[in-house]
Amino acid sequence: MKNQLETIFKKISEAVRQVSELKQLEDIRVKALGRKGELTRVLQGLKDLPPAVRREVGQIANVMKGQLLRHIETRVEELKRASWTADPKLRPDPTLPGRPPELGREHILNRTIRDIEDIFRSLGFAVAEGPEVETDYYNFGAMNFPVDHPSRDMHDTLFISGDVLLRTHTSPVQVRYMEQQSPPLRAIMPGKTYRCDDDATHSPMFHQVEGLMVDRDVSFADLKAVLTLFIRRVFGTGAQLRFRPSFFPFTEPSAEIDMACVKCRGKGCNLCKGTGWVEILGAGMVHPQVLRAGRIDPETYTGFAFGMGVERMAMLKYGIDHLRYFFENDLRFLRQF
Ligand code: DAH
Repeated sequence: MKNQLETIFKKISEAVRQVSELKQLEDIRVKALGRKGELTRVLQGLKDLPPAVRREVGQIANVMKGQLLRHIETRVEELKRASWTADPKLRPDPTLPGRPPELGREHILNRTIRDIEDIFRSLGFAVAEGPEVETDYYNFGAMNFPVDHPSRDMHDTLFISGDVLLRTHTSPVQVRYMEQQSPPLRAIMPGKTYRCDDDATHSPMFHQVEGLMVDRDVSFADLKAVLTLFIRRVFGTGAQLRFRPSFFPFTEPSAEIDMACVKCRGKGCNLCKGTGWVEILGAGMVHPQVLRAGRIDPETYTGFAFGMGVERMAMLKYGIDHLRYFFENDLRFLRQF
C-alpha cells in the first residue's frame, strides 16, 4: 500500500507541476483528493489493514495529502501571477477601499427601555425584573383581581397549565418586589408581557414598564409630580398631561393619563382619533390589599404605582405609525435610530 501511495503521490505532483490553467488544476484536485478521488479511495482501504500497519500507513498518507494540497496552492498562486503579467487588468488593486464591517445596533425598543430606566434612576428608582412565566396568584390574585371576576377578562390570558400562565402585565413584579424589600422603596420593572391578541394595534408579546413607590405619606400629588416630570423628560417641557378617573383592581383611586397629542398638539387628528389626547399610562394609589400581599402594612404606608406600554411610548416619541415595524426586523427600519 505504501508503494501504491508513493506512485499516486508522484503522479499527482507531476501533473500539478505541468498544468498551465487554473481550471485543470481544480480537475486534478478533485480527481486526487475529492470524495471519490484516487488518494481518498486508498485511504478508505486503510480500515482493512492490521492496526499497527494502519497507523503507519495512515500517517504517511496524511503527510502526502498535506503536501499535495500545498503544491496545489503554490501552483494556483504561480498561475494567477502569470495571468496578471499577461493581462494587468486581472491584477488585484490594493488601493481599493475595503468593505466596511456591518455593525449591529440596539433595537429601538431596548433603547426606549434604557432611556426610561435612565430617567427613573435619576429620580432614585431602582430597576427590578420578574419572571415572564407567572402564577395565577401573582398575575391576578395578589393584584386584587377577585376569582371569577370579569376584570380578569380585560386580560386575554395565555395559560400554560393549571395556575401557570404568561404574565399579562408587569404589575405582578410589584408584589414580588415588596416581598423582598421593605419601605421606603422606589422601583421600576421593565419586561415582556403577553396577551392572546394579535391585530393592527396589538401584538401577542409586548413590553411594559411598571413603577412603584411606597413610603409613609406618599400621596397622589407625588404620583402626579413624578409622572409629569418623566413625561416632560421624554417628550419635552411642553408636554401636557390629563389625569382621568379609571378603574384597576390593584389601585384605588385609579387614573388613566393622557398626553396632548404629539402630532396635532391637541387640535384632533387620526393619531388621537380627533380627541386631541392620547392615552399613555395607567396609574393609581396602591390598593391596601396589594400592599398586604407584599407584606406591607397599609395602616403605616401608602404608595403609588403606574404602568406604561413601551411600544406605545416609542411610537409616540419617534412617530412610528405601525406596531408591526418593531417585530419585522427590517434593517431599513432598525437602522434609522
Ligand atoms: N397593569 C395595567 C395594564 O396592563 C397597567 C397599570 C395600570 C399598571 C395602573 C399600574 C397601575 O401599576 O397602577 O393594563
